[in-house]
Amino acid sequence: MKVLCIAQQKGGVCKTTTALSLSAAWALEGRRVLMIDVDPQANLTRNIVEYEKLKFDVSMIYAGKKKLSQTIVGTSSPNLFIAPARTSLSRVENLERSLSTYNTLKRELPKLGSDYDLAVIDTPPSLGIFTVSALIAATHVLVPVQPTFFCQEGLGDLNQTIIEARESNAGLASVRYFMTLFDKRTVISQDIAQLLRDRLGKSLFATAIRRNVAIEESQYAQKTIFEYAPKSPGADDFRALSREVAAWLEND
Ligand SMILES: Nc1ncnc2c1ncn2[C@@H]1O[C@H](COP(=O)(O)OP(=O)(O)OP(=O)(O)O)[C@@H](O)[C@H]1O
Ligand SMILES: [Mg+2]
Repeated sequence: MKVLCIAQQKGGVCKTTTALSLSAAWALEGRRVLMIDVDPQANLTRNIVEYEKLKFDVSMIYAGKKKLSQTIVGTSSPNLFIAPARTSLSRVENLERSLSTYNTLKRELPKLGSDYDLAVIDTPPSLGIFTVSALIAATHVLVPVQPTFFCQEGLGDLNQTIIEARESNAGLASVRYFMTLFDKRTVISQDIAQLLRDRLGKSLFATAIRRNVAIEESQYAQKTIFEYAPKSPGADDFRALSREVAAWLEND
């Protein structure tokens, strides 16, 4: 199974939005997609299921009390599933950090067999236990970059973390980037976009996700962008990105 990890230690750069929107796009095409939320903020979870009704969450997997399969719940979209997070996940950070904790997802994912076509992991804005355990389980890493003056700061640290994760994960194929919160009306966005293209070359996807208010509204309405505003620029951009990313997942 291909395992896509969305990672970037900078906060608010569209990780959760991307995890949900790409997963929803693929589910609409008929693929069975498992989203895994390993962010104690639980934003992805709250966006797609009724948080108060959850019985289990991924903290129990890290604590060795449940299997991944036992935490998975369905969503209102037929092919879209989630292993949810709750804020109690933050307590896992206090657990003893053994190799086994870091390997939690890597160990659990293969046990799902062929139940899902693809897994998409949403991570918190840090390079701690959750992001590292996701990188150790991933086959592909997708990094959102907001074209701002400071956007390249931190990419080096993320890269170093990925290099270290590779030592425990021979299956980690490649890392790709895409631009988010792009505003083509501003010169600075255009200039920085060019700098990123020069620096990242082919590892930067052609699709940039534009700033689009429908995306924020859809989250408020607890719907995917395709349910809320299928003709919006946000839906168009994520459909385009989902095609590019799917081709990468298939061929790399
Ligand atoms: N293309 C977009 N246009 C407008 N608003 C957006 C867009 N993408 C995301 N947002 C909004 O920006 C905010 C941050 O997005 P999101 O939660 O996806 O970022 P994140 O990287 O997951 O944040 P964190 O690091 O805290 O987990 C949210 O309020 C979201 O609705
Ligand atoms: Mg998030």
